Amino acid sequence: MIQLLFSVLATTAAVRAYSLGSAGWDAAYSKAERALHKLNQTEKIGIVTGVTWEGGPCVGNTYSAESIGYPSLCLQDSPLGVRDANPVTAFPAGINAGATWDRSLMYARGAAIGAESKGLGVNVQLGPVAGPLGKNPDGGRIWEGFSVDPYLSGIAMEETIQGMQNSGVQACAKHWLGNEQEHNRETISSNIGDRAAHELYVWPFMNAVKANVASVMCSYNKVNETWSCESDAILNKLMKDELGFRGYVMSDWNAQHTTVNSALAGLDMTMPGSDFNSPPGSIFWGVNLQDAIAAGSVPQARLDNMVTRILAAWYLLDQDEGYPEVAFSSWNGGNASVDVTDDHGSVARVVARDSVILLKNQGKVLPITRPKSLAIIGSDAVVNPNGPNACSDRGCDNGTLAMGWGSGTAQFPYLVSPLDAIQAQSERTGTKIIQSTTDDTIAAAKAAAAAETAVVFINSDSGEGYITVEGNEGDRNNLDPWHNGNALVEAVAAENKNVIVVVHSVGPVILETIVAQPNVKAIVWAGIPGQESGNALVDVMYGAVSPSGKLPYTIAKQRSDYGTGWLNAEVDNFSEGLFIDYRHFDESGLVPRYEFGYGLSYTTFAYSAIGIHVFAAAGPSTGPIIPGGPSELFEPVGAITALVRNSGSVSGSEVAQLYIGLPDSAPRTPPKQLRGFQKLKLAAKQSTLASFELTRRDLSYWDVATQKWVVPSGTFKVYIGSSSRDIRLQGTFTVKW
Ligand code: NOJ
Repeated sequence: MIQLLFSVLATTAAVRAYSLGSAGWDAAYSKAERALHKLNQTEKIGIVTGVTWEGGPCVGNTYSAESIGYPSLCLQDSPLGVRDANPVTAFPAGINAGATWDRSLMYARGAAIGAESKGLGVNVQLGPVAGPLGKNPDGGRIWEGFSVDPYLSGIAMEETIQGMQNSGVQACAKHWLGNEQEHNRETISSNIGDRAAHELYVWPFMNAVKANVASVMCSYNKVNETWSCESDAILNKLMKDELGFRGYVMSDWNAQHTTVNSALAGLDMTMPGSDFNSPPGSIFWGVNLQDAIAAGSVPQARLDNMVTRILAAWYLLDQDEGYPEVAFSSWNGGNASVDVTDDHGSVARVVARDSVILLKNQGKVLPITRPKSLAIIGSDAVVNPNGPNACSDRGCDNGTLAMGWGSGTAQFPYLVSPLDAIQAQSERTGTKIIQSTTDDTIAAAKAAAAAETAVVFINSDSGEGYITVEGNEGDRNNLDPWHNGNALVEAVAAENKNVIVVVHSVGPVILETIVAQPNVKAIVWAGIPGQESGNALVDVMYGAVSPSGKLPYTIAKQRSDYGTGWLNAEVDNFSEGLFIDYRHFDESGLVPRYEFGYGLSYTTFAYSAIGIHVFAAAGPSTGPIIPGGPSELFEPVGAITALVRNSGSVSGSEVAQLYIGLPDSAPRTPPKQLRGFQKLKLAAKQSTLASFELTRRDLSYWDVATQKWVVPSGTFKVYIGSSSRDIRLQGTFTVKW
């Protein structure tokens, strides 16, 4: 056991050494500094300034600099695929990648997105997302990111960025910072306490910087009363000094407000280079920045630093050597001159499949094998009759939901609906399919009465605030299923004793009406699975694989239980502090319907033999600043292990989860916080050692007084389990000062 532990530690340490290596940045900076000397002032200004909205083929474009062979940089959305280009792969959304809890799939998805971006000549892919983190369950863009838990989000950021950047494209971690809702997003101030900021909202960005992310996007909102893109506190001090970020900060589109202050605060690139609004064509940088430098209000050194950072990121990714030309235009239908999709559909399918979360499975109604007849019910079972891309930026909820709406989207090359895939399967099993693919309850009841088993599809959608869908201005008006989904399920459950409910949703949905129906035997949570939706669902429903997704957020019994939600206000005081999602439910003793980390399998898992090996010393983290923060913060300080056995009769994958509770000497902290997880693929009766490596950060809190991460002294609580509430093993360890 001990030997195994050391070999686990040795391999993870080797991986870490790679990701922390600053040699890549040093070499890139040397090249950038040499190139800087060859540039004239106009070229420098052009490198930091967008060419105006729709002024080039991509959603963001800068000016080229011939003297050093530097191109007009192409910046393109989105976090789930290349936006406004086709053909591309429409991957499962970030929230589904989070729901897999599978590092290798997060990496594979990032690598495939990166390969498509590079193939299309995109220099900077505008993702992944860690803000919104998702403290508001009704926040419109929570599905673009991975999880409301900063640890899970952080791992997903790191894996995705490494995948993308190893494919050659620059990643962009966004939106920095506190961009938790769509209403008033350009005016609201996120007033976040220093401790909650560090332990929740900054945390996943630390992972992003540690993974050497090339760029960061500052957000629309204000942070503590100052615009994000004008804030010395969050750009210079936090992102660059404290986190040691060596890449560049770009503005969200039109999130810049001044020429001089933004430059002094640490903004390095303005996007898209013109004001969307008024007066038309107004611009803060470009010639205005040149004038400000000439007048001495912005030092020349600041411009040189912006340019150096942007060039260094370009060299870091070797984009100076034979990078493809842009092969599409966002403004003419996006038809690309190359096909970059490769076999990425299979990556999309595996991520979608392994993100399916089985919430309920009474009497083992799933998997279904050879039903004589199946009723397929609901408009969410079929593709929008007008086509999967009929609504611009997916700004409608017609047909099966496979991504949210807004800039975080891509064109579907095709969309396999649940009905398509179930029909194909039913030909193999000789099942009669009875369809009712509207949300009409009378037709639904009739179909349900005629079949052995009824599968009802419902959904809930949200997106970016520039589009309003069915009265939802980005953020969701409520957490109920759309299109009267509760009534649809009730109508079906009144007529059929074997009802399976499939939910496609951007985030939590209140399921109480559905759970209360005794005939609803199974609930399948499919999130927003992208183009392979139906195939992935059939893989799980028919038992080709066991479901293995786990909830990346809590599903409450009622909306108010979350204690947070988007505000119709100009200030959000983040008064809940650290107590969001399960941290809040645990602290307040609230019982969720389905807790964070929950998800069933077709098999069962047994946990035993907890091993605790921790050698941390109490006190503040010191050491030089490396990408991510003080070096000591990322050093291994031990590992927790457990034996996990597949105790059932079919193969399956378990996400073993580690939660840590801080000692009483720490200031008030959530009872337990996720600090490790491992997805284990196990054949029936097979056992394996789960090993959760701990770093100093995992045991630390942010000490506001000393402005340092501190490992408190005292007794730490260790919880290992199958979810945040299904704790199977417990222990403690003590750290002394
Ligand atoms: C605004 C969005 O907030 C951001 O995520 C996106 O990258 C830009 N628009 C460009 O489309």
